[in-house]
Amino acid sequence: MINETLTMIPGPSPVHTRILDALAQPTTSHVAPSFVEEFRQALAGFRALCQSETAQPFIVAGGGTLAMEIALVNLVAPGERVLVVSHGYFGDRFGDLAASFGIQADLLKSEWGQAVPAEAVAARLAAGSYAAVTITHVDTSTGTLAPVEAYLEVLKGRPELVILDGVCATGGVEEKFDAWKLDVLLTGPQKAIGAPPGVALCLFSEKAMAHRKARTSVPAYYSDVMRWLPVMLDPGKYYSTPCVNEIVALAEALRMVHAEGLPARFARHARNARAFRAGLDALGLKLFTDAGCRADTLSVVLLPEGVTDAAFRKEVASRGAVLAGGLGPIAGKAFRLGHMGNISAAEVVTVLGAIEGSLAALGISVTPGAALAAAAPHL
Ligand SMILES: Cc1ncc(COP(=O)(O)O)c(C=O)c1O
Repeated sequence: MINETLTMIPGPSPVHTRILDALAQPTTSHVAPSFVEEFRQALAGFRALCQSETAQPFIVAGGGTLAMEIALVNLVAPGERVLVVSHGYFGDRFGDLAASFGIQADLLKSEWGQAVPAEAVAARLAAGSYAAVTITHVDTSTGTLAPVEAYLEVLKGRPELVILDGVCATGGVEEKFDAWKLDVLLTGPQKAIGAPPGVALCLFSEKAMAHRKARTSVPAYYSDVMRWLPVMLDPGKYYSTPCVNEIVALAEALRMVHAEGLPARFARHARNARAFRAGLDALGLKLFTDAGCRADTLSVVLLPEGVTDAAFRKEVASRGAVLAGGLGPIAGKAFRLGHMGNISAAEVVTVLGAIEGSLAALGISVTPGAALAAAAPHL
């Protein structure tokens, strides 16, 4: 569409007009029956997305970082130990969060772009137990997909509570909360769920809720799940004014998720990821993330020799697509391309065309049409 820019960063992802229409509905009272029903549907839709029958969902105004804080502060007491399995910037954030609450974090970090092997997790656990283990399902800084099921195999029968950060995964990569026996799955609406940012989403297992209830207090007020529980059980109750419009938009986004169907949605994410990778490869671009641990929700791509990040992303933006820069050690050396949420083959084609044209404009030799020809068989 004329004057429209495709936001292809790894979150927020482009928001479908159906969801924008929901967001633009007049703001109602937070106890209006119509809103209470939307809130209920958002809670139920979120739990179903995570493939759980019994876990307790929480939807609270805030960001993914708040969801991380809610998970940690409700389950791990100051002075206790947590094992943080980190594949980059967002994994490391659990370490910072823990430090802020006097929790001892033991960081098990991969090289950027690689995954921590399950054996390394087993080795840390063999040396002693922890109150909880945090795993970032997809680290948005490195594009690394954690081998969650292999970690869970190692954690089977152990006392640690398992906290999974799905902010860059939920809705695009399968997460089986009940079958995997997770204790908390935290996420955000603005990535693979395809809704606008504004809420923190958490799902607590019965075990996690029992764990919280056994503690008389936690060092939090807004993040204390016990204060929110009455609202989540009956969304007509008040604790702190919910972000009415964002919750209505989330409810619509989740209806779209379930109308598409989870298997179809995950298959679409896998298809778009394959198409992007094939197209980028045809342009001579190399992915930063190891082949064995690449997420379907984003690609982290090395810039070719002689091309600066600023010049490249400016060229791509002039062709209608916004990409993100690299973080931490790959800042200036790589760009990040989000391919999650409600994007279709049309966006894949547009963005590959924009990247191809930008490389050519910057003097890189590319075969015109090569990216689209390589991507097309996957779409
Ligand atoms: C994996 C992951 N966890 C947590 C966060 C934090 O979310 P927010 O920026 O909404 O606070 C992000 C944000 O990009 C993320 O990618």
